[in-house]
Amino acid sequence: MTNTVAIGIQWGDEGKGKIVDLLTPDVDVVARFQGGPNAGHTLVIGDQKTVLNHIPSGILHENTACLIGNGTVVDPFHLVEEMDTLIKAGIPVSERLKISERCQLILPYHRALDAAREAAKGKDKIGTTGKGIGPCYEDKTARRGIRLIDLKSDDLNARIDANLEYVNFMLVEYLKAEMISREDVDKALDLARERLLPLAADVPLILQRHIKAGDSVLYEGAQGSMLDVDHGTYPYVTSSNTVAGAALAGLGVGPGQVDEVLGICKAYTTRVGSGPFPTELYNAEGMNCPSGKHMAERGQEFGATTGRPRRTGWFDGPVVQHAVRINGVTGLAITKLDVLDGLEEVKLCVAYELNGERLESIPACCNQLDAVVPIYETLPGWSENTFGATSMDQLPANAVTLLKRIEEVCECPIAMLSTGPDRNHIIHLH
Ligand code: GDP
Ligand code: IMO
Ligand code: MG
Repeated sequence: MTNTVAIGIQWGDEGKGKIVDLLTPDVDVVARFQGGPNAGHTLVIGDQKTVLNHIPSGILHENTACLIGNGTVVDPFHLVEEMDTLIKAGIPVSERLKISERCQLILPYHRALDAAREAAKGKDKIGTTGKGIGPCYEDKTARRGIRLIDLKSDDLNARIDANLEYVNFMLVEYLKAEMISREDVDKALDLARERLLPLAADVPLILQRHIKAGDSVLYEGAQGSMLDVDHGTYPYVTSSNTVAGAALAGLGVGPGQVDEVLGICKAYTTRVGSGPFPTELYNAEGMNCPSGKHMAERGQEFGATTGRPRRTGWFDGPVVQHAVRINGVTGLAITKLDVLDGLEEVKLCVAYELNGERLESIPACCNQLDAVVPIYETLPGWSENTFGATSMDQLPANAVTLLKRIEEVCECPIAMLSTGPDRNHIIHLH
């Protein structure tokens, strides 16, 4: 039995939901450790598509405990809606899900601040998902956040009043936006009290009991390493640590309790929102290279949460090398290989050049990352169909060559290969 952290290692949307769902039959617990409703994880089983935002992607399986850890941020309205959608589909969510009593609540003023700040930034906006993620994590760090367990606290009212005074000053005086009323906040708190508090639990205690019993745990990341608040393309990042190390702090487990780190990445690259993207080919703002268009269309690259079109580009070796390093990735899960079917040639960025010099790693500064020139290797494409392939011998030789080069450039073995959105479209390698 192994305990695995499964994380995205590009800019999110790598196919984490699909991979976690398909690995779930082999594990006893699936746990989320950071992020919140900014995540959109898609699971496809036959003609049934499920998109999860807060809830771990193991929820469709019987006998799997699903945990939402202290490192996450939870929006009561959104989470209850997500739970109800699953309950209507016959999934006994309340029996399978526990939420850390220490997780932070996203309240209406967080969403209002997120929207007002983005509007004020104009063309310099981060391009957030608008779910209040940044302001909520900001309150956590500033020690004025409201946690699930605080709903039971005597000083809750006074803390909400103090927060509202500050927030409404910011919203009205500074951002020229509408104020948030106490009634709006109370609705969220009442719903959380009624529906989420009954699921509140001491998550580290539950996890340790499972681990001591020899059960295996799958730690499910959200977003991707390039959106990590420390290691990503700051400030065009999310407000949490998304790297494998965050699984420990975000759930309350020790470093010795993780065996493997699965780095999930597409056979090409996508990004939603603003910020550097060195291998970009195609976007809604007018970049229109046919190969990028092919990826966007064939890959149906639209945000699972926001519906926004994703920017697309070639596989970025330096990005994945960086991610392998900062996460200690032990195996790659390459997804969406099938999307490259039909391209005459496929490019692989193997390094960056800046001012004529080849760089050893990606620059920490966004301006520099914007200025790098990708060094590409061009490989022949393939006309054959890899969609739905379940073994390596079903793949054309040129696809196998690309995968071998990815392993060499990223200095990491490929453990799994995904060839379609369905749970069964998978090749296990190691
Ligand atoms: P996540 O946020 O990492 O879970 O990824 P998303 O669900 O936001 O986006 C991945 C999209 O690609 C979803 O629509 C998946 O159904 C789909 N998908 C996942 N793996 C594959 C694959 O190997 N091939 C194809 N064609 N689609 C895939
Ligand atoms: P999953 O888990 C892709 C991006 C946003 C924006 C930046 C900050 O589905 O991979 P935020 O709302 O977090 O403050 O936005 O991060 N972003 C994602 N991009 N997939 C995600 O999640 C994302 N979650 C946030 O587009 O650029
Ligand atoms: Mg997603």
